[in-house]
Amino acid sequence: MGVCREWRLRAVPRGVLAADDLALADVALPQPAAGEVRLRVLRLPMDPAIRMTLASRGGNYGAGVAVGSAVRGLVLGRVEASRSPALAVGDIVSGFGSWSEQIVGDAARFAPVSVRADLPLSIHTHVLGTSGLAALHGLADVGAVRSGDSVLVSAAAGGVGSLACQFARLLGASRVVGIAGGAEKCRIAVERYGCDACIDHRAAPDLEAALRAALPEGVDLGFENVGGAPLQAALALLRPGARIALCGMIAEYDAAEPAPGPANLWNLIVQRARIEGFRVAPLLADRPRVDALLERIEGWLRAGTLQYDIDERDGFEAVPQAFAALSNGGHRGRLVVRVAD
Ligand SMILES: NC(=O)c1ccc[n+]([C@@H]2O[C@H](COP(=O)([O-])OP(=O)(O)OC[C@H]3O[C@@H](n4cnc5c(N)ncnc54)[C@H](OP(=O)(O)O)[C@@H]3O)[C@@H](O)[C@H]2O)c1
Repeated sequence: MGVCREWRLRAVPRGVLAADDLALADVALPQPAAGEVRLRVLRLPMDPAIRMTLASRGGNYGAGVAVGSAVRGLVLGRVEASRSPALAVGDIVSGFGSWSEQIVGDAARFAPVSVRADLPLSIHTHVLGTSGLAALHGLADVGAVRSGDSVLVSAAAGGVGSLACQFARLLGASRVVGIAGGAEKCRIAVERYGCDACIDHRAAPDLEAALRAALPEGVDLGFENVGGAPLQAALALLRPGARIALCGMIAEYDAAEPAPGPANLWNLIVQRARIEGFRVAPLLADRPRVDALLERIEGWLRAGTLQYDIDERDGFEAVPQAFAALSNGGHRGRLVVRVAD
């Protein structure tokens, strides 16, 4: 029986996750039982919504993490022992696990990943993983993006947002405007991720007015990653028949209480518009749809039409600081912790 380390919740965070909200603990690894595998965790993608599972308030999807328990999240790992016919030693897999160096669990929780040897491994958490799936599923399936649409993307320089900006253009949007924090991120959103304009939410005293100037024709499709002020501004700019694909609400994840709702939901009625939330986790069970989405994304990638950035932080110990960077905007593109190679 081996031993490894895992990150456990030590105290319910108040605000942005602090290093001492988590504690490293040694865990004994049992031998895999029938149907189980043992994984070596290679990459831990830092997914903002994990913060909601650490919150004490309700309204969560899935059970929250109890104090003293391991934090849960998506993992990319290598099978090191298998008692399942579905997975072999050496397979690279992804699925929902915990912030641990090794995991023993039901093989059915993990799906094999067909590794592209010419690309960084972390691409399977980003362009060819959940960020890419969230961006394309949100735009195409939920937001029903159409040729000629004006599209607004919040957190436009982040993992999902940077791809949503580019996918929107590839799917025929005629104007793509981003919202990001800081002049440098806005520059990248325009020069690298193909936005026509990007509004710095930290520098715009009136976000709605700044967006109205950048999108004088209004918004046909809002790809919402943030909630709060960006969502309210998007609602104000809706055109008739517009859609908002609600991917995330990171502005709320660190708050002790949910923020008051947007003051202008009425505009959905005026414009006969709709807002629809979605999640990638249940989509992963629909293998044919996932494969079709990934095939389309890989086509764009291989054609050289996609720019992507992966911000990799080295070492399992880096997890708390890396996760906090999601809230303070101290990263670019997809944020991933490299646990092992
Ligand atoms: N529905 C799903 O299945 C699904 C799947 C994946 C991700 N998501 C959601 O998609 C969103 C983006 O996720 P990601 O992994 O790609 O993260 P990310 O965009 O790479 O990182 C989060 C970014 O959000 C911005 N931000 C953080 N706090 C903010 C605040 N209070 N106000 C305004 N902006 C703030 C920061 O960007 P700036 O520095 O530019 O402000 C930060 O870099 C998250 O809401 C996440 O929960 C949903």
